[in-house]
Amino acid sequence: MVDTQPLAISASGISKRFGRILALDDVSISVPEGSILALLGPNGAGKSTLIDILCTIQRPDSGQAQVAGMDVVKQPTHLRQHLGVVFQESTLDTRLTVYENLDFHGMVYQMGSADARQRVDEMLELVEMAEWRNALVRTLSSGMRRRIEIARALMHRPTILFLDEPTVGLDAQSRAKIWSYIRTLRKTQKLTIVVTTHYIEEVDTVDAVCVIDHGTILARGTPEALKAQYGTGMLRVTPRTPEARAKLLTRYPKAFEGVDGQLLIDVEAASSADAMLEEFGDQIHQVAVDRPSLESVFLALTGRELRDAPPSSSKKARGR
Ligand SMILES: Nc1ncnc2c1ncn2[C@@H]1O[C@H](COP(=O)(O)OP(=O)(O)O)[C@@H](O)[C@H]1O
Ligand SMILES: [Mg+2]
Repeated sequence: MVDTQPLAISASGISKRFGRILALDDVSISVPEGSILALLGPNGAGKSTLIDILCTIQRPDSGQAQVAGMDVVKQPTHLRQHLGVVFQESTLDTRLTVYENLDFHGMVYQMGSADARQRVDEMLELVEMAEWRNALVRTLSSGMRRRIEIARALMHRPTILFLDEPTVGLDAQSRAKIWSYIRTLRKTQKLTIVVTTHYIEEVDTVDAVCVIDHGTILARGTPEALKAQYGTGMLRVTPRTPEARAKLLTRYPKAFEGVDGQLLIDVEAASSADAMLEEFGDQIHQVAVDRPSLESVFLALTGRELRDAPPSSSKKARGR
């Protein structure tokens, strides 16, 4: 269905190097107008670099990208008028009020003052921050600041919205709110949205996911298609002792190491939970069955779990 849609973004062969680090390695993506694309990957995957290139903050070393019908390298100034961006790091002026931050943005984008004033109110309404209009930004929680940044990014009526880790570090309730705004925007405004995240459970409701790691896109598709193609059911096993763990690893050499010392064993490799319990029941503290999920897709593609965990935890896991 989406294949017939015109493309809001079409990029091919994008590479970007920082010294010895190849942040992006020949990345191609296309995003149909009016859809939500999630870039899903761990810290350091290259998500922010890709966003920065698509919104003209950085230039690619090679490759080319058309965004809203314009070339990111040749027409950056014109293109920026059509883009709304929420960067990973907050760029609000915390000494100013909510209204002043948004109004200033309107000025930079040369909006008329009456139009800007009305738009501030509309956008604050959208992110449920109208009553905080005159509050100093420094008095607001990080979740509220994120909502203000989304409102600000929409002030000048962009056609494409980039959100770089809009929910990182927020509590579950704030994260849910941000995603509800994203879905509302998708429904009510003619917006294309590109959002990055390393929270896998967030991308279940988007139109398409690109799994990115080490500067390369490993897979793309709808959440359902990715699950159907790469997802497997997993037994999530908590061994009682290090010895039990070692035995399990010998018996199931393809097991993945999960968070908190758990082992993740492909249901097929284990034949069934019953067979595994018969053999190892007394050495296992707990077993859970994970249905095919985006988590198992990520695991299958990268050999690592992508959890709501600090970046170091992914380094401990074994590759495959
Ligand atoms: N300005 C920079 N200078 C040097 N290295 C950078 C710079 N920006 C990003 N990198 C490196 O490029 C890789 C990708 O980074 P980034 O795009 O920020 O990943 P992500 O947003 O997925 O966490 C990382 O290894 C990061 O350290
Ligand atoms: Mg980033």
